[in-house]
Amino acid sequence: MFARNVAVIGTGYVGLTTGACLASLGHSVVCADSDRDKVDRLRKGQVDILEPELADLVADGTAAGRLTWVTEAGAAFEQGTRPVEIVFLCVPTPMGAGGLADLGVLEAVVDEIRTLLPPDCVLVTKSTVPVGTGDRITQLLDREDVAVVSNPEFLREGTAVHDFLHPDRIVVGSARQDAAERVAALYARLGAPTVLTDGPSAELIKYAANCFLAMKLSYVNAVAELCERVGADVVDVTEGMGYDRRIGQKFLSPGPGWGGSCLPKDTSALLQLADSADFEFRLVRAAIDTNSRQHKRMVDKIRLAVTGSRTGSLSKVKLALLGLTFKAGTDDLRDSPSLAVAALLRQAGADVVAFDPAVSPADDRLPLAVASDAYQAAADADAIVVLTEWPEFRRLDWPRLAACVRTPAVVDTRNLLDPSVLAQAGFTWSGVGRPA
Ligand code: UGA
Repeated sequence: MFARNVAVIGTGYVGLTTGACLASLGHSVVCADSDRDKVDRLRKGQVDILEPELADLVADGTAAGRLTWVTEAGAAFEQGTRPVEIVFLCVPTPMGAGGLADLGVLEAVVDEIRTLLPPDCVLVTKSTVPVGTGDRITQLLDREDVAVVSNPEFLREGTAVHDFLHPDRIVVGSARQDAAERVAALYARLGAPTVLTDGPSAELIKYAANCFLAMKLSYVNAVAELCERVGADVVDVTEGMGYDRRIGQKFLSPGPGWGGSCLPKDTSALLQLADSADFEFRLVRAAIDTNSRQHKRMVDKIRLAVTGSRTGSLSKVKLALLGLTFKAGTDDLRDSPSLAVAALLRQAGADVVAFDPAVSPADDRLPLAVASDAYQAAADADAIVVLTEWPEFRRLDWPRLAACVRTPAVVDTRNLLDPSVLAQAGFTWSGVGRPA
């Protein structure tokens, strides 16, 4: 393999994983971030996000001199003896007005680096960007010698390093085939199927894939609701569906709704894109609506467990919420379904106390009380509600919890717990799409 000189601008989830993993593949990588404190911590091998293996890769790459850190994008191009050949843009593209991705930061960075980029380099977008962004960057750059390439990333939080190093596919798109091939060659060692295409198609692949996943989850959540209504068990139903290789077993677990920093943002953005192309993408709209409904459905389940009626009052009811992050294995709270359900419960008058293994009680990001363990959260609770599928919740001391609560009731929105273990401890249990 031929090692390349690479720069990565932005050290968020995607940028840091990209930089550290490309260095582990043998490339020389310089990462730039305008946050000086963060860069100082990274130089010492300290990683702020909870992501298995990432801190080790950062420390190894830094020690080996293959990973270096700068605070100004321009400085990234001055490192080393050989010029930087490939520059990755990994800056945030949050949801902006009307559900469209906000490209303010991205455009500011392009403006900052346009005259500083080394001659004949390739500028790559890794952030999820609206279709057409590559063309817009080409226009803003106004540099004949710099090719613009789209190379979307498909990593999941919590398994980012694994996903980067064992990808299902590599997608690279550009109007310049030679530039796309140069970028694809960075990943040659991974042996993954590679889709070489044009820029807009590469940009659309990312949205089309994430929206498909969101639709799959909303479909499963709707099937779970139907299971409840007709007396079927969603665990068996999805297992039976999943053996069909066209469907697959993955992404078939019902829950309190899908969240995180990607699926909600990307479904809204695809709707906007379709809208601007005069196309009403009803399937994606239905997936979003089904997801909002799922949050409300969880609240109705809690009403039923506590009051015996789906419309009973939650006023002054005390609830212990287990799990706040949008899924297990991350400390990310962005667009977490747990927080959406918690907000609805508070609106309904409930008194909620939460516990999450990745969220500190001192965390001031949250408008609700956070306990230091599950037992403290459960003190005098009228029900315990599992909202995130942290495996450690399975190992809780349920007889001890039974002694803490006012009423031994569990609403398990992730179907995480073993109902027989709970029954032995004296708890009633209700899951999602399963017989009680
Ligand atoms: C998602 C995609 O899965 C990645 O492929 C993509 O690269 C990433 O977005 C991105 O665009 O950067 P991520 O946001 O880390 O990854 O989260 P997922 O693992 O996809 O989970 C999304 C939500 O679906 C979570 O709230 C999770 O709890 C929920 N989920 C997932 C279920 O409710 N059931 C399942 O079976 C799987």
